Amino acid sequence: MTATNKQVVLKNYVSGFPKESDFDFKTTTVEFKLPGGSNSVLVKNLYLSCDPYMRIRMGKPDPSTAALAQAYAPGKPIFGYGVSRVIESGHPDYKKGDLLWGIVGWEEYSVITPMTHMHFKIQHTDIPLSYYTGLLGMPGMTAYAGFYEVCSPKEGETVYVSAASGAVGQLVGQFAKMMGCYVVGSAGSTEKVDLLKTKFGFDDAFNYKEEPDLSAALKRFSELLISKRLMSLTVRIGLHKKAAIHN
Ligand SMILES: NC(=O)c1ccc[n+]([C@@H]2O[C@H](COP(=O)([O-])OP(=O)(O)OC[C@H]3O[C@@H](n4cnc5c(N)ncnc54)[C@H](OP(=O)(O)O)[C@@H]3O)[C@@H](O)[C@H]2O)c1
Repeated sequence: MTATNKQVVLKNYVSGFPKESDFDFKTTTVEFKLPGGSNSVLVKNLYLSCDPYMRIRMGKPDPSTAALAQAYAPGKPIFGYGVSRVIESGHPDYKKGDLLWGIVGWEEYSVITPMTHMHFKIQHTDIPLSYYTGLLGMPGMTAYAGFYEVCSPKEGETVYVSAASGAVGQLVGQFAKMMGCYVVGSAGSTEKVDLLKTKFGFDDAFNYKEEPDLSAALKRFSELLISKRLMSLTVRIGLHKKAAIHN
């Protein structure tokens, strides 16, 4: 059996902000049968996650970022983390119908060759599968590892989160609240600031675009609180900003 396979293809290497015209739709076909002896897995892609590191992949190959992210190839589908259902499997750990998380193409069907440690079988299917592109996907792992492992917070501390309304920042803020911290976030619009306070449970938030002096803004917040803690934690977060929280 064959099916059409719609793909999102990179037209040319992107410079500057990505535009719709940098991409194209291409329709190919896929055969629902893997070659005998193959340990590949054919999947139907259900959810695709759009993450900031993908911008690095869109640029011309650059040795300084190659270790972080291999460049996409013009004319080929772009790829990233997604949630997929197994259609055919030559791999002993996967069978038809299994759900899988990992790197797949931005296309309806992907043949995953080889399976790597960046793929795993989804065991918990009693939650919305889309969570595996957010809370249970890369943004969630980034927020979790960055906050708990790198920042090592303690209950009662004050936590400052920049880019707080983004995929990672909003989770860091919520983890911090669950830990019993006082949480201040910054974002780039009034709507985002409102969202932080009304939906994501931040204790306070401000629009950094209305603060010409970020240090002064942070000082102002710290003075409202048990002062020195905010600054010490902000410095620690600043030192580790690549992990989860960026300034
Ligand atoms: N998502 C992941 O899985 C992951 C993994 C590893 C590392 N990271 C890093 O963690 C940071 C946050 O990632 P995220 O997934 O939370 O990103 P996101 O959801 O795309 O949010 C990023 C936020 O950054 C702010 N921003 C500031 N300058 C920007 C610009 N020039 N273009 C676009 N946004 C801009 C925007 O908020 P304002 O309007 O409030 O400025 C935006 O909402 C990034 O540095 C990312 O590379 C993310």
